[in-house]
Amino acid sequence: MAEGKRILTGMRPTGSLHLGHYAGALENWLRLQREYDCYFLIADYQVSDYADDWDRVHNSVWEVALDWLAVGLSPDISHFMIESQVPENAELTTWLSWFLPLGMLQRNPTLKAEMADIEAGNKSVPVAFFTYPVMQAANILLPRAHLVPVGEDQLPHIEMTRELARRFNRQFKEVFPEPEGLVGRVPRLVGTDGQAKMSKSVGNTIDLKDSKAVVNEKVRRMYTDPTRLRAIDPGHVEGNPVFMYHDAFNPDKAEVDDLKERYIRGAVGDVEVKTKLAKAINNLLEPIRERRAYYESHSEHVRAALEKGCSEGRAIARETMEMVHDALGVNYLKKGG
Ligand code: TRP
Repeated sequence: MAEGKRILTGMRPTGSLHLGHYAGALENWLRLQREYDCYFLIADYQVSDYADDWDRVHNSVWEVALDWLAVGLSPDISHFMIESQVPENAELTTWLSWFLPLGMLQRNPTLKAEMADIEAGNKSVPVAFFTYPVMQAANILLPRAHLVPVGEDQLPHIEMTRELARRFNRQFKEVFPEPEGLVGRVPRLVGTDGQAKMSKSVGNTIDLKDSKAVVNEKVRRMYTDPTRLRAIDPGHVEGNPVFMYHDAFNPDKAEVDDLKERYIRGAVGDVEVKTKLAKAINNLLEPIRERRAYYESHSEHVRAALEKGCSEGRAIARETMEMVHDALGVNYLKKGG
Protein backbone atom coordinates (compact mmCIF):
# COMPACT_ATOMS: atom_id res chain seq x y z
CA MET A 1 0.00 0.00 0.00
CA ALA A 2 1.19 3.45 -0.88
CA GLU A 3 0.66 4.65 2.70
CA GLY A 4 -2.50 6.71 2.97
CA LYS A 5 -2.33 7.82 -0.66
CA ARG A 6 -5.60 8.39 -2.45
CA ILE A 7 -6.66 8.10 -6.07
CA LEU A 8 -9.60 9.71 -7.73
CA THR A 9 -10.49 8.93 -11.29
CA GLY A 10 -13.65 8.71 -13.30
CA MET A 11 -15.58 7.91 -16.42
CA ARG A 12 -18.52 9.43 -18.17
CA PRO A 13 -21.73 7.41 -18.27
CA THR A 14 -22.00 7.08 -22.05
CA GLY A 15 -22.99 3.41 -22.19
CA SER A 16 -21.39 0.06 -21.59
CA LEU A 17 -17.61 0.04 -21.64
CA HIS A 18 -15.27 -1.19 -24.36
CA LEU A 19 -11.69 -2.37 -24.90
CA GLY A 20 -10.46 1.22 -25.10
CA HIS A 21 -11.66 1.77 -21.53
CA TYR A 22 -10.04 -1.51 -20.51
CA ALA A 23 -6.60 -0.90 -21.99
CA GLY A 24 -6.56 2.82 -21.26
CA ALA A 25 -7.93 2.76 -17.75
CA LEU A 26 -9.54 -0.27 -16.12
CA GLU A 27 -6.52 -2.55 -16.39
CA ASN A 28 -4.53 0.12 -14.59
CA TRP A 29 -7.23 0.72 -11.98
CA LEU A 30 -7.34 -3.00 -11.14
CA ARG A 31 -3.69 -2.91 -10.18
CA LEU A 32 -3.90 0.46 -8.42
CA GLN A 33 -6.89 -0.47 -6.26
CA ARG A 34 -4.61 -2.84 -4.33
CA GLU A 35 -2.05 -0.11 -3.63
CA TYR A 36 -4.15 3.02 -3.10
CA ASP A 37 -7.38 4.10 -1.51
CA CYS A 38 -9.37 4.54 -4.72
CA TYR A 39 -12.38 6.73 -5.46
CA PHE A 40 -13.93 5.76 -8.79
CA LEU A 41 -16.38 8.31 -10.07
CA ILE A 42 -19.23 8.04 -12.56
CA ALA A 43 -19.26 11.58 -13.91
CA ASP A 44 -22.93 12.09 -14.63
CA TYR A 45 -22.52 15.89 -14.70
CA GLN A 46 -20.06 15.56 -17.57
CA VAL A 47 -22.26 14.44 -20.41
CA SER A 48 -23.55 16.71 -23.10
CA ASP A 49 -26.47 14.51 -24.13
CA TYR A 50 -28.97 15.27 -21.39
CA ALA A 51 -30.94 17.50 -23.67
CA ASP A 52 -31.75 14.74 -26.12
CA ASP A 53 -31.17 11.46 -24.34
CA TRP A 54 -31.87 11.65 -20.65
CA ASP A 55 -32.79 7.98 -20.33
CA ARG A 56 -29.62 6.79 -21.95
CA VAL A 57 -27.47 8.73 -19.48
CA HIS A 58 -29.43 7.29 -16.57
CA ASN A 59 -29.15 3.72 -17.81
CA SER A 60 -25.48 4.25 -18.49
CA VAL A 61 -24.77 4.96 -14.83
CA TRP A 62 -25.83 1.38 -14.08
CA GLU A 63 -24.00 0.00 -17.10
CA VAL A 64 -20.73 1.57 -16.01
CA ALA A 65 -21.08 0.27 -12.45
CA LEU A 66 -21.90 -3.18 -13.81
CA ASP A 67 -18.82 -3.17 -16.04
CA TRP A 68 -16.62 -2.03 -13.17
CA LEU A 69 -17.78 -4.97 -11.09
CA ALA A 70 -17.44 -7.28 -14.09
CA VAL A 71 -13.77 -6.43 -14.66
CA GLY A 72 -13.04 -7.00 -10.99
CA LEU A 73 -12.97 -3.60 -9.39
CA SER A 74 -13.99 -4.15 -5.80
CA PRO A 75 -16.39 -1.95 -3.85
CA ASP A 76 -15.06 -3.58 -0.68
CA ILE A 77 -11.69 -1.88 -1.01
CA SER A 78 -12.57 1.03 -3.33
CA HIS A 79 -15.38 3.57 -3.48
CA PHE A 80 -17.76 3.67 -6.46
CA MET A 81 -19.30 7.14 -6.56
CA ILE A 82 -21.91 8.89 -8.67
CA GLU A 83 -20.88 12.50 -9.11
CA SER A 84 -24.34 14.04 -8.67
CA GLN A 85 -24.99 12.03 -5.50
CA VAL A 86 -22.09 13.77 -3.77
CA PRO A 87 -23.41 17.34 -3.94
CA GLU A 88 -20.16 18.70 -2.49
CA ASN A 89 -18.86 18.30 -6.06
CA ALA A 90 -21.16 21.12 -7.12
CA GLU A 91 -20.33 23.22 -4.10
CA LEU A 92 -16.57 23.00 -4.50
CA THR A 93 -16.96 23.72 -8.22
CA THR A 94 -18.61 27.01 -7.35
CA TRP A 95 -15.81 28.09 -5.05
CA LEU A 96 -13.04 26.95 -7.42
CA SER A 97 -14.63 28.87 -10.29
CA TRP A 98 -13.59 32.08 -8.54
CA PHE A 99 -9.92 31.18 -8.82
CA LEU A 100 -9.85 30.17 -12.46
CA PRO A 101 -9.34 32.81 -15.14
CA LEU A 102 -11.78 32.35 -18.02
CA GLY A 103 -8.91 32.26 -20.50
CA MET A 104 -7.57 29.06 -18.99
CA LEU A 105 -10.80 27.26 -19.85
CA GLN A 106 -11.01 28.84 -23.28
CA ARG A 107 -7.49 27.63 -24.09
CA ASN A 108 -7.96 24.07 -22.79
CA PRO A 109 -7.22 21.94 -25.89
CA THR A 110 -9.33 18.92 -24.85
CA LEU A 111 -12.34 21.05 -24.03
CA LYS A 112 -11.95 22.97 -27.28
CA ALA A 113 -11.91 19.76 -29.32
CA GLU A 114 -14.95 18.35 -27.52
CA MET A 115 -16.93 21.54 -27.96
CA ALA A 116 -16.03 21.60 -31.64
CA ASP A 117 -17.37 18.01 -31.91
CA ILE A 118 -20.64 18.97 -30.27
CA GLU A 119 -21.05 21.92 -32.59
CA ALA A 120 -20.12 19.80 -35.60
CA GLY A 121 -23.15 17.67 -34.70
CA ASN A 122 -25.24 20.85 -34.98
CA LYS A 123 -25.90 21.06 -31.26
CA SER A 124 -25.13 23.93 -28.98
CA VAL A 125 -22.72 23.57 -26.10
CA PRO A 126 -24.44 23.77 -22.71
CA VAL A 127 -22.81 26.14 -20.20
CA ALA A 128 -22.33 23.20 -17.82
CA PHE A 129 -20.29 21.42 -20.47
CA PHE A 130 -18.01 24.42 -20.88
CA THR A 131 -17.28 24.44 -17.16
CA TYR A 132 -16.96 20.68 -16.68
CA PRO A 133 -13.15 20.84 -16.30
CA VAL A 134 -13.73 22.93 -13.15
CA MET A 135 -16.09 20.24 -11.88
CA GLN A 136 -13.44 17.68 -12.74
CA ALA A 137 -10.93 19.61 -10.64
CA ALA A 138 -13.47 19.55 -7.81
CA ASN A 139 -13.90 15.78 -8.28
CA ILE A 140 -10.18 15.32 -7.82
CA LEU A 141 -9.69 17.80 -4.99
CA LEU A 142 -12.68 16.68 -2.92
CA PRO A 143 -11.10 13.44 -1.69
CA ARG A 144 -7.74 15.29 -1.68
CA ALA A 145 -6.38 12.82 -4.21
CA HIS A 146 -2.66 12.40 -4.80
CA LEU A 147 -2.84 10.49 -8.06
CA VAL A 148 -5.21 10.61 -11.04
CA PRO A 149 -4.92 7.78 -13.58
CA VAL A 150 -6.33 9.07 -16.87
CA GLY A 151 -6.11 8.95 -20.64
CA GLU A 152 -3.66 11.26 -22.34
CA ASP A 153 -6.40 13.67 -23.43
CA GLN A 154 -7.21 14.40 -19.79
CA LEU A 155 -3.80 15.81 -18.91
CA PRO A 156 -4.79 19.45 -19.55
CA HIS A 157 -7.52 19.04 -16.93
CA ILE A 158 -5.04 17.66 -14.42
CA GLU A 159 -2.67 20.54 -15.11
CA MET A 160 -5.53 22.95 -14.45
CA THR A 161 -6.39 21.12 -11.24
CA ARG A 162 -2.81 21.43 -10.02
CA GLU A 163 -2.88 25.12 -10.76
CA LEU A 164 -6.13 25.52 -8.81
CA ALA A 165 -4.71 23.57 -5.86
CA ARG A 166 -1.57 25.72 -5.82
CA ARG A 167 -3.57 28.95 -5.96
CA PHE A 168 -5.90 27.89 -3.19
CA ASN A 169 -3.12 26.61 -0.93
CA ARG A 170 -1.04 29.73 -1.45
CA GLN A 171 -3.82 32.22 -0.94
CA PHE A 172 -5.63 30.54 1.97
CA LYS A 173 -4.29 27.44 3.60
CA GLU A 174 -2.60 24.19 2.62
CA VAL A 175 -5.67 22.02 2.02
CA PHE A 176 -5.03 20.16 -1.22
CA PRO A 177 -2.21 17.86 -2.32
CA GLU A 178 -1.06 18.71 -5.86
CA PRO A 179 -2.41 15.72 -7.77
CA GLU A 180 -0.28 13.92 -10.36
CA GLY A 181 -1.66 12.44 -13.58
CA LEU A 182 -0.82 8.88 -14.53
CA VAL A 183 -1.29 7.69 -18.11
CA GLY A 184 -1.98 3.98 -18.72
CA ARG A 185 -0.11 1.40 -20.79
CA VAL A 186 -2.22 2.08 -23.90
CA PRO A 187 -3.00 5.80 -23.74
CA ARG A 188 -5.28 5.78 -26.76
CA LEU A 189 -6.71 2.68 -28.41
CA VAL A 190 -7.59 3.00 -32.08
CA GLY A 191 -11.04 1.76 -33.15
CA THR A 192 -11.73 -1.37 -35.21
CA ASP A 193 -11.98 0.92 -38.25
CA GLY A 194 -8.37 2.00 -37.72
CA GLN A 195 -9.43 5.60 -38.28
CA ALA A 196 -10.25 7.09 -34.93
CA LYS A 197 -10.04 6.54 -31.22
CA MET A 198 -12.32 3.69 -30.10
CA SER A 199 -15.58 5.37 -29.26
CA LYS A 200 -19.22 4.51 -28.92
CA SER A 201 -20.34 7.50 -30.99
CA VAL A 202 -18.14 6.44 -33.91
CA GLY A 203 -19.38 2.83 -33.70
CA ASN A 204 -15.91 1.25 -33.87
CA THR A 205 -15.83 -0.48 -30.49
CA ILE A 206 -15.44 -3.97 -29.12
CA ASP A 207 -17.50 -3.91 -25.95
CA LEU A 208 -16.61 -5.74 -22.77
CA LYS A 209 -20.03 -7.36 -22.87
CA ASP A 210 -19.84 -8.49 -26.51
CA SER A 211 -20.43 -12.22 -26.94
CA LYS A 212 -17.78 -14.49 -28.41
CA ALA A 213 -19.60 -14.55 -31.75
CA VAL A 214 -19.81 -10.76 -31.87
CA VAL A 215 -16.11 -10.41 -31.06
CA ASN A 216 -15.21 -12.91 -33.80
CA GLU A 217 -17.29 -10.99 -36.31
CA LYS A 218 -15.95 -7.56 -35.32
CA VAL A 219 -12.37 -8.80 -35.53
CA ARG A 220 -13.04 -10.49 -38.87
CA ARG A 221 -14.22 -7.16 -40.27
CA MET A 222 -11.43 -5.10 -38.72
CA TYR A 223 -9.51 -2.67 -40.83
CA THR A 224 -6.04 -3.92 -41.62
CA ASP A 225 -3.24 -3.12 -44.06
CA PRO A 226 -5.15 -1.80 -47.11
CA THR A 227 -2.11 -2.21 -49.39
CA ARG A 228 -2.07 -5.96 -48.87
CA LEU A 229 -4.38 -7.90 -51.14
CA ARG A 230 -3.09 -11.47 -50.85
CA ALA A 231 -1.43 -13.53 -48.11
CA ILE A 232 1.82 -13.57 -50.10
CA ASP A 233 2.04 -9.77 -50.29
CA PRO A 234 4.46 -8.25 -47.80
CA GLY A 235 2.40 -6.37 -45.18
CA HIS A 236 2.76 -3.45 -42.81
CA VAL A 237 2.65 -4.07 -39.07
CA GLU A 238 3.37 -0.51 -38.01
CA GLY A 239 0.11 1.43 -37.64
CA ASN A 240 -1.97 -1.67 -38.41
CA PRO A 241 -4.81 -1.85 -35.90
CA VAL A 242 -4.87 -5.65 -35.93
CA PHE A 243 -1.29 -5.72 -34.69
CA MET A 244 -1.88 -2.85 -32.26
CA TYR A 245 -4.57 -5.01 -30.69
CA HIS A 246 -2.27 -8.04 -30.67
CA ASP A 247 0.27 -5.92 -28.79
CA ALA A 248 -2.39 -4.68 -26.39
CA PHE A 249 -4.35 -7.88 -25.73
CA ASN A 250 -2.40 -10.97 -26.73
CA PRO A 251 -0.26 -12.09 -23.80
CA ASP A 252 1.59 -14.63 -25.98
CA LYS A 253 4.42 -12.37 -27.16
CA ALA A 254 6.18 -15.20 -29.04
CA GLU A 255 3.03 -15.79 -31.09
CA VAL A 256 2.70 -12.06 -31.83
CA ASP A 257 6.36 -11.80 -32.89
CA ASP A 258 5.99 -14.81 -35.16
CA LEU A 259 2.83 -13.39 -36.77
CA LYS A 260 4.48 -10.02 -37.32
CA GLU A 261 7.55 -11.56 -38.84
CA ARG A 262 5.49 -13.67 -41.26
CA TYR A 263 3.14 -10.78 -42.06
CA ILE A 264 6.02 -8.55 -43.09
CA ARG A 265 7.42 -11.36 -45.28
CA GLY A 266 4.04 -12.18 -46.81
CA ALA A 267 3.87 -15.61 -45.24
CA VAL A 268 0.63 -15.49 -43.29
CA GLY A 269 -3.00 -14.83 -44.19
CA ASP A 270 -5.21 -12.26 -42.50
CA VAL A 271 -7.52 -15.03 -41.38
CA GLU A 272 -4.86 -16.63 -39.18
CA VAL A 273 -3.77 -13.27 -37.73
CA LYS A 274 -7.36 -12.29 -36.96
CA THR A 275 -8.41 -15.68 -35.62
CA LYS A 276 -5.56 -15.57 -33.14
CA LEU A 277 -6.48 -12.03 -32.17
CA ALA A 278 -10.14 -12.89 -31.63
CA LYS A 279 -9.05 -15.82 -29.46
CA ALA A 280 -6.83 -13.59 -27.30
CA ILE A 281 -9.60 -11.02 -26.86
CA ASN A 282 -12.16 -13.68 -26.02
CA ASN A 283 -9.81 -15.15 -23.42
CA LEU A 284 -9.58 -11.74 -21.81
CA LEU A 285 -13.32 -11.11 -21.97
CA GLU A 286 -14.63 -14.51 -20.94
CA PRO A 287 -14.25 -14.09 -17.15
CA ILE A 288 -15.55 -10.52 -17.47
CA ARG A 289 -18.68 -11.76 -19.27
CA GLU A 290 -19.26 -14.38 -16.61
CA ARG A 291 -19.03 -11.89 -13.77
CA ARG A 292 -21.21 -9.46 -15.70
CA ALA A 293 -23.91 -12.09 -16.12
CA TYR A 294 -23.79 -12.73 -12.38
CA TYR A 295 -24.21 -9.05 -11.49
CA GLU A 296 -26.91 -8.58 -14.11
CA SER A 297 -29.01 -11.12 -12.28
CA HIS A 298 -27.98 -9.74 -8.86
CA SER A 299 -28.57 -6.04 -9.41
CA GLU A 300 -28.90 -5.56 -5.64
CA HIS A 301 -25.09 -5.91 -5.48
CA VAL A 302 -24.64 -3.13 -8.02
CA ARG A 303 -26.92 -0.91 -6.04
CA ALA A 304 -25.17 -1.76 -2.79
CA ALA A 305 -21.78 -0.96 -4.31
CA LEU A 306 -22.99 2.47 -5.38
CA GLU A 307 -24.72 3.18 -2.09
CA LYS A 308 -21.64 2.31 -0.09
CA GLY A 309 -19.32 4.27 -2.40
CA CYS A 310 -21.48 7.39 -2.46
CA SER A 311 -21.78 7.41 1.29
CA GLU A 312 -18.02 6.96 1.75
CA GLY A 313 -17.40 9.59 -0.91
CA ARG A 314 -19.64 12.02 0.93
CA ALA A 315 -17.85 11.41 4.20
CA ILE A 316 -14.47 12.51 2.88
CA ALA A 317 -16.11 15.27 0.82
CA ARG A 318 -17.70 16.76 3.94
CA GLU A 319 -14.39 16.64 5.74
CA THR A 320 -12.71 18.51 2.87
CA MET A 321 -15.50 21.07 2.63
CA GLU A 322 -15.15 21.79 6.32
CA MET A 323 -11.46 22.54 5.71
CA VAL A 324 -12.37 24.68 2.70
CA HIS A 325 -15.01 26.61 4.62
CA ASP A 326 -12.54 27.30 7.42
CA ALA A 327 -9.82 28.34 4.97
CA LEU A 328 -12.16 30.70 3.09
CA GLY A 329 -13.81 31.97 6.24
CA VAL A 330 -17.28 31.01 5.05
CA ASN A 331 -18.07 29.34 8.33
CA TYR A 332 -20.09 32.32 9.55
CA LEU A 333 -22.41 30.37 11.76
CA LYS A 334 -19.96 27.81 13.11
CA LYS A 335 -19.92 27.64 16.90
CA GLY A 336 -16.95 29.60 18.17
CA GLY A 337 -16.25 30.72 14.59
N1 TRP B 1 -13.42 13.57 -18.16
C1 TRP B 1 -13.07 12.20 -17.91
C2 TRP B 1 -13.17 11.44 -19.23
O1 TRP B 1 -13.90 11.84 -20.11
C3 TRP B 1 -13.94 11.55 -16.87
C4 TRP B 1 -13.75 12.16 -15.51
C5 TRP B 1 -14.66 12.87 -14.80
C6 TRP B 1 -12.58 12.15 -14.71
N2 TRP B 1 -14.16 13.28 -13.61
C7 TRP B 1 -12.89 12.86 -13.52
C8 TRP B 1 -11.30 11.61 -14.87
C9 TRP B 1 -11.95 13.06 -12.52
C10 TRP B 1 -10.37 11.81 -13.87
C11 TRP B 1 -10.69 12.54 -12.70
O2 TRP B 1 -12.54 10.42 -19.34
